[in-house]
Amino acid sequence: MGKKLRVGVIGYGFMGRAHSNAYYKVNKFFDLEYEPVLQAICGRNEEKVKAFADRWGYASWETDWRKLVERDDIDAIDICTPNDTHHDIAIAAAEKGKMVLCEKPLARTGAEAREMVEAVEEAGVPNFVWFNYRRVPAITLAHEVVQEGKLGRVFHYRAVYLQDWTIDPSVPQGGHTFWRLDANVAGSGVLGDLLSHSIDTAMWLNGPIVAVNALMETFVKERVHQEKGAPEPVKIDDATLFLARFENGSVGTFESTRYARGRKNKNAFEINGEHASIYFDLEDPHRLEYFEHSDDPRLRGWRSIHVTGFEHPYHKNWWVPGTTIGYEHTFINALADFLKGLQTGTPAEPTFRTALATQYVCDAVAKSAQTGTWQEVTRI
Ligand SMILES: NC(=O)c1ccc[n+]([C@@H]2O[C@H](COP(=O)([O-])OP(=O)(O)OC[C@H]3O[C@@H](n4cnc5c(N)ncnc54)[C@H](O)[C@@H]3O)[C@@H](O)[C@H]2O)c1
Repeated sequence: MGKKLRVGVIGYGFMGRAHSNAYYKVNKFFDLEYEPVLQAICGRNEEKVKAFADRWGYASWETDWRKLVERDDIDAIDICTPNDTHHDIAIAAAEKGKMVLCEKPLARTGAEAREMVEAVEEAGVPNFVWFNYRRVPAITLAHEVVQEGKLGRVFHYRAVYLQDWTIDPSVPQGGHTFWRLDANVAGSGVLGDLLSHSIDTAMWLNGPIVAVNALMETFVKERVHQEKGAPEPVKIDDATLFLARFENGSVGTFESTRYARGRKNKNAFEINGEHASIYFDLEDPHRLEYFEHSDDPRLRGWRSIHVTGFEHPYHKNWWVPGTTIGYEHTFINALADFLKGLQTGTPAEPTFRTALATQYVCDAVAKSAQTGTWQEVTRI
């Protein structure tokens, strides 16, 4: 420890809390050269931002992100605000020479994301996108298993990301709470919000997606706008399904919806290879299911691995084997990797450039759904 990294976090909602917790704890559990300092929190409501600063121990607060970005006592800007703000904040921060950490999806569109990549690369500033599920130990283990070649040739990749919180048509859109249902703010519905996670994980595990064929559906066509108080057409995708071709010759299916009654945050995937298969479900996050064909045929079957041992990713930094870590630890693990990247000079993934590839898949999915045709994915 020793090198102070003065962080300015923008947004004090769900992710503002998750990231503040990560900055607060990372040096307690990981041995790192860098030590984040909670220098400033930014939000538009003065009373709330002050209260947040007090609760989490921030040294100061701002109500305008432009002021935060101008400050000389901030080394890194962390963007925890809705998707429509990512582009402008990231570019302004990069132009001021700040490191930029940004929540997913990187942007609303590939075009926005490309400009963000150009800005951070031109400025030469470290950058990172919080696709935190890469840091679920069981998913990191899946990555190790794939990298070691245990699956052999991969045939199938299957992903679902299912929730159920928008089934009720009286749920409004827009405003402070329901910006995810407002296409102007969110950019898209489940595509950017949920499938971006599935796509990031899929390409990390199984390589680039080169072509897609998609359909999208909006089940509830009109919702009251939370701020304006009147009904407006719903322009987000409530459900998106697509077929994918990967560069390695395997084929994939992806499905996401917020209308799967009983599914709260089911982020699951299965990979079927020549020698072995892997299955993961975030609703049972400590387990990686693994099937290996070369096992003694009499004893062959799906293994349910409790990914909590010292030999498993990240766990030696936490508790004793058999005990579990949770959702918040994925952000702490991600931050530890980002800080290690600063230390070693090998940037932690995903960088903005890597996240641009995910954005291009999202663009191709949206275009395919509009045109009813296969779309090739723009390569980075
Ligand atoms: N990695 C993940 O798993 C994950 C999970 C949830 C959200 N996210 C992403 O994080 C981002 C924020 O989502 P959230 O769930 O925390 O949203 P949220 O609504 O809980 O919080 C957003 C915060 O941003 C603030 N804000 C909005 N506009 C602002 C502005 N112009 N200036 C300053 N503050 C502003 C709001 O007041 C609020 O504090 C989104 O991009 C979302 O997609 C990622």
